[in-house]
Amino acid sequence: MSESILEFDKSDFLGKVAMVDTNRVVAAIENHDMMTSISVGSLVAIQGRLNSEFLIGIIERATRSTTERLLTNEVDDEGNIPFGEALQDFIKIVLIGTYRTVDGDRSNTFKRGADTFPQIDRACYQLSAHNLQSFMNLLSAKVPLGERMALGHYMADQTAVAIAHGDKFFQRHAAILGSTGSGKSWAVALILERAAKLTHPNLIVLDMHGEYSTLCEGKEAIAEQFKIAGPGDCLSESTNSLFLPYWLLNREEMLAMILDRSDQNAPNQASRFTEHVRKLKESTLKDLNKQDVLDTFTVDSPIYYDISQLMALLNIDDEGTKPGKTGPVKGDWNGKLTRFIARLEAKIEDRRYGFLFQPPKSTSEYEWLSKIAMRLFHSGKTTKGIKIIDFSEVPADVLPIVAGVLARLLYNVQFWMNDNDRHPLTIVCDEAHLYLPVRDEADAPEKRALESFERIAKEGRKYGVSLLVVSQRPSDVSRTILSQCNNFLVLRLTNDQDQSVVKRMVPESMSGLTDILPLLDTGEGLLLGDSILLPTRIKLDCPKIEPASATRQFWTEWANRTPNEKAVEKAIETMRRQTR
Ligand SMILES: Nc1ncnc2c1ncn2[C@@H]1O[C@H](COP(=O)(O)OP(=O)(O)OP(=O)(O)O)[C@@H](O)[C@H]1O
Ligand SMILES: [Mg+2]
Repeated sequence: MSESILEFDKSDFLGKVAMVDTNRVVAAIENHDMMTSISVGSLVAIQGRLNSEFLIGIIERATRSTTERLLTNEVDDEGNIPFGEALQDFIKIVLIGTYRTVDGDRSNTFKRGADTFPQIDRACYQLSAHNLQSFMNLLSAKVPLGERMALGHYMADQTAVAIAHGDKFFQRHAAILGSTGSGKSWAVALILERAAKLTHPNLIVLDMHGEYSTLCEGKEAIAEQFKIAGPGDCLSESTNSLFLPYWLLNREEMLAMILDRSDQNAPNQASRFTEHVRKLKESTLKDLNKQDVLDTFTVDSPIYYDISQLMALLNIDDEGTKPGKTGPVKGDWNGKLTRFIARLEAKIEDRRYGFLFQPPKSTSEYEWLSKIAMRLFHSGKTTKGIKIIDFSEVPADVLPIVAGVLARLLYNVQFWMNDNDRHPLTIVCDEAHLYLPVRDEADAPEKRALESFERIAKEGRKYGVSLLVVSQRPSDVSRTILSQCNNFLVLRLTNDQDQSVVKRMVPESMSGLTDILPLLDTGEGLLLGDSILLPTRIKLDCPKIEPASATRQFWTEWANRTPNEKAVEKAIETMRRQTR
């Protein structure tokens, strides 16, 4: 018979089970001195039906009350009734798993959930010192070697490495949530660093503030950097500038940006736009002799067309005439497209939208799309499988469209790929509240982004695409997306509304754990979900390469730092140029 890794003696004994319901147990403490050494969050083991079985739980609440009791039935010499004080200590425990010394032919096993409920009067022990250490190590050892993702250390026992199951973490979407400055970006950098150790990772980070560029610099770089082209990048075409030409946008995305739905001519504008785009795409395919594509393409297929030709066709409609009884009269669309054309023109001419409407000539070539997609999907030794896309210069009003188009493109490539050829891809959505809002509050561009990302959240698993959603305002992030996440790394979360979102996402039995969220230290988090056997508090490791998201030392810097006078002047010029 195998040795149990858990060995309890008198000094570990807390008390006995006094009450049991479906997922909580109350134990009456007999060893009152122990009350000072336990705390909310501590682990306990309750003797199961067999000697070789313990139910493992987390203390959710500890209470002490004193009652008076009659010591004897007789009045003492002075005529007083002898009362004494009695302590009544209780702990409330959430059951989280079952440990067995032997389980069939296996020894020392731990599984989630309690198979049986403990019986009244069963002994309850504190898990501490060597028992805690052995137990934590057992948890980590349960994750197969090749699938381990080490994240940090358990707060309960800082000597034990907290290991998450890498496959499970990424398989069915995960979220990293926490108030500003709680350590989300560092956690992302840490996870990327762990992934970079694998031979062929495949992650694409939508980096809203350009803070992960440090991961792409120098000899130690672990990622490849792309940047959605800003006004400056449109002039000098660098290899890492990413353009998302207008013709990649589907009909709905394009209209979300240009169409004013309150305009009474909106239906006419939408239908003329659709008609012309379809025709122009058709003529591109005819010129290229792509007969097989011609047979089945739709207006949403990513096929190049020339936007100036589109403008010309719209203008013809807008100014057009048709023969009348006494000479030409206004055409069917005459004057009805004027505002639509003006809005489109304004977008085309605005340099900030250059990456959409003024892409370089090379992007019009038929092969361009597959070339760029190959770069985004590439995962090799020299060109890294971790790709950071800097969105910092994308104007806020089109940010959702751009993020959505990119996600849709990536998803569709996986979707149309042969089953066996798909290489799993995770899209890291940094600052997700900026482009994936709650549906009821979304505007037209945001609705398009939600469509693309919610589709991945719902169906991505089958095609090997998953999301890692990162946000400081979970209550502002699409519920559909968050509710599809199976793993949550929750860092300090101070806002009530945000906490209640997290509470709703985790199973009822665990909701007590979330009470510590506002109290977590920076870089400390609660990992909940199927990637870890035990939902516990973790102190995350620091990444080797820190993202450029440092918290400024206001007071110290005011005391010690001489500001650079020229910096403001330079910033003004940069602001005018709209390029760094
Ligand atoms: N694991 C950690 N250990 C120690 N310090 C940390 C850890 N993670 C973060 N910090 C500290 O907290 C600071 C802020 O972290 P980070 O930039 O990751 O916050 P954030 O949650 O991404 O904030 P925001 O929502 O504003 O982007 C870091 O500059 C670092 O000093
Ligand atoms: Mg951050």
